[in-house]
Amino acid sequence: MAADLPMDLPVIDLDVFRNQPRDSPEVQAECLKAAKALITYGALVLHDSRVSEEDNAAFLDLLEDYFAQPEEDLKKDERPELHYQIGVTLENTEKPKCAVDEPCLNVINRLEPSERPLDITAHAPDPKCRFFWRMVELPPYETQFPGLNAANVVPEAPHIADRWGPTMNLWGDSMKNAVEGLTEMTAVGLGLPAGSFKDAGRYGPHLLAPTASDLKKYGEKDTILAGFHTDLNFLTIHGRSRYPGLHIWARNTGKRIAVKIPQGNYLLVQAGKQLEHITGGLIKAGFHEVVVNEKTVDVIEARKAQFPDRPLVRISSTFFWHLSSDVDLTPIPSLAEQARQVRAEQFNLGKNEGEEVTYPTMKVGELVQKYVPPFLFFPTPGKSCVLLKTDILFAACSELRHIALMT
Ligand SMILES: [Fe+2]
Repeated sequence: MAADLPMDLPVIDLDVFRNQPRDSPEVQAECLKAAKALITYGALVLHDSRVSEEDNAAFLDLLEDYFAQPEEDLKKDERPELHYQIGVTLENTEKPKCAVDEPCLNVINRLEPSERPLDITAHAPDPKCRFFWRMVELPPYETQFPGLNAANVVPEAPHIADRWGPTMNLWGDSMKNAVEGLTEMTAVGLGLPAGSFKDAGRYGPHLLAPTASDLKKYGEKDTILAGFHTDLNFLTIHGRSRYPGLHIWARNTGKRIAVKIPQGNYLLVQAGKQLEHITGGLIKAGFHEVVVNEKTVDVIEARKAQFPDRPLVRISSTFFWHLSSDVDLTPIPSLAEQARQVRAEQFNLGKNEGEEVTYPTMKVGELVQKYVPPFLFFPTPGKSCVLLKTDILFAACSELRHIALMT
C-alpha cells in the first residue's frame, strides 16, 4: 500500500466570521474558502478560539475512564430495547454500511489499488464502542418523524457520574456552536443567506457520539476501527483525537489522506449526505475510515511509555449535526447547476466520478430512512421510522416513543 499522502486540510477561521462585519472582504473571503474546502475536500479544519484544548482533554480523559470500566458496568448503560439509540453501544455491533452498498463499493473500485481503504468486504462489524448523548431542542410542531423521547443515560460509577453531564454538555456545546457557525459561513460562501442551513437544523436530532477503540485489543497495524463510509447527517465535527488514524478521500485527488489536526483551538469537519443532497452534489459527503496506521502505532508506544497508568483507548469525539427531520430537502437550483459544471470539469480532467446521482425532493427524515436496510425496519403501516444514529444500521419507529415513555 502506498504511503498516505501527508496533507493539511484548509484551515477556516470562525473567529473572522464572528468578529468582523459580515460584509467585510475578509469575512466574504473566509466564507468562500470554507465553501470551496467542502467542495474540494469534503472536509476542513475549523479554528474557533472558544474551543479549548483543556475542555477537549477533560472530555477525552472522561471517555477513556468510562470505556476502561469492566464490561458488566458498561452493559448497564446499554438500551437494546431502544435499539441502542441512546447510551452505550459495545464493540462489534456497528457495521460499515458501505460493505453492502454497491455505489459505495464502486467508489472503492475507481480508486487506484494503492489508494483504497482497508478491505471491508468481509463486512465484519467495527471493533469500536460508541456512546450516544442527544443534544436536541424538541420541535414546537408535530413532527412526521418522531424520535426518541428517552432521557440521556448517565453512568453510575461514582468516579464518572458527577462529571459526566457537565463534561459531555460543555464539549458537546463547544462543537455544536462551532459547527453551527460553519453552517453560516458555508451558506454565505455558497451565495445563500447566512441562516439557510442553521435555521433548517434548529430541531435536528443532533448527537454527541464519541467512539472508543480498545488499542490493547485492536492496536495492531492495519486494523479497521471504523470501515470506509460516509455519514448520513449534514456535517460531522470532531475534536482532535490523541491517536492518528483517520483517513479521508478528497474528491479531487483520489488519494487517501491521513488527517492531521493542529493542537489548540481546532476541530475537524466533514460533509455528510444531507449537505450533499441539498447542494445537488456540489459538496459530496466525504468518505473516511479510521484504522491503525504506522503513526497510530507510534503514538500507542509513546503513550504507553509516557502515561503507563492511563487506559489505552482511542476516543473520537464525534458530533453529528443534522437538519431537522421535517425539512424539505430540495437541491438548491443555483448549486445544482454549479454541481453539473464541477462534474463536467472533473470529466474533462479524466476523472471518473461514476454514474450521475439524482437528488429527488424528499424530507430529511426520508433521506435517512433511505439508507436503512429493509431488514432492519419495523414495517408498521402508517407509522414513520427515523434513523437517529448516523453512520450505522439501526432504525427506530414512532412506536418506540411509546416504549420510551413506558420504561
Ligand atoms: Fe463517520
